[in-house]
Amino acid sequence: MPQDANAIRSILSLAPVVPVIILDDVSQARPLAEALVAGGLPILEVTLRTPNALKVMEEMAKVSGAIVGSGTVRNAGHMKSSVEAGCRFMVSPGASPRLLDAAEDVAIPLLPGIGTPTEAMAAAERGYSFLKFFPAEALGGAPVLKAFASPLSDITFCPTGGIDAAKAPTYLSLPNVICVGGSWIMPNDALASGDFARIEALAKEASALRG
Ligand code: 3PG
Repeated sequence: MPQDANAIRSILSLAPVVPVIILDDVSQARPLAEALVAGGLPILEVTLRTPNALKVMEEMAKVSGAIVGSGTVRNAGHMKSSVEAGCRFMVSPGASPRLLDAAEDVAIPLLPGIGTPTEAMAAAERGYSFLKFFPAEALGGAPVLKAFASPLSDITFCPTGGIDAAKAPTYLSLPNVICVGGSWIMPNDALASGDFARIEALAKEASALRG
């Protein structure tokens, strides 16, 4: 189906920040998801960038309150395995025609990525009104999305890429931003040492970023 705007809106409006997770250690999946949910961030994007990513998704999907999606979705095979792993949404760094064709056959919503007005317009022509803006900081950050707001007023964005706790509020103050994505909530050293209390504290701070 084309993007189900109500479905993706209702997911992305649940928290101001979507943790973008790159995790291979399946034993950390549940405690990490529990810490993020306890900190007020229930929407979890698990990227397909590690050998065990699908197992990580399956474990995280068992955590009460967690809404798990797959990230770095680049083809139909990724979509099929994401659905089988229990994902509720999918995120892609791009919006290639073949990717959008493949999404037509998948019941869970896709948030495709764009970086320019032409790409946003092409995705909108295919029925997408919620898009990821990626890589946000490298492309010029919040001023670019601010400039998109008037001419592309029917499109809402989730920027990701290079965003942290200091930069997030500026994005979240824009009328065309529903949430931001990022990995700053899970610092590598906290994950390495299993310091889930610190991750929960960072999630709490992030979940309070918008009202
Ligand atoms: C990504 O796809 O890696 C996300 O955009 C996260 O980016 P970050 O690690 O810069 O927050």
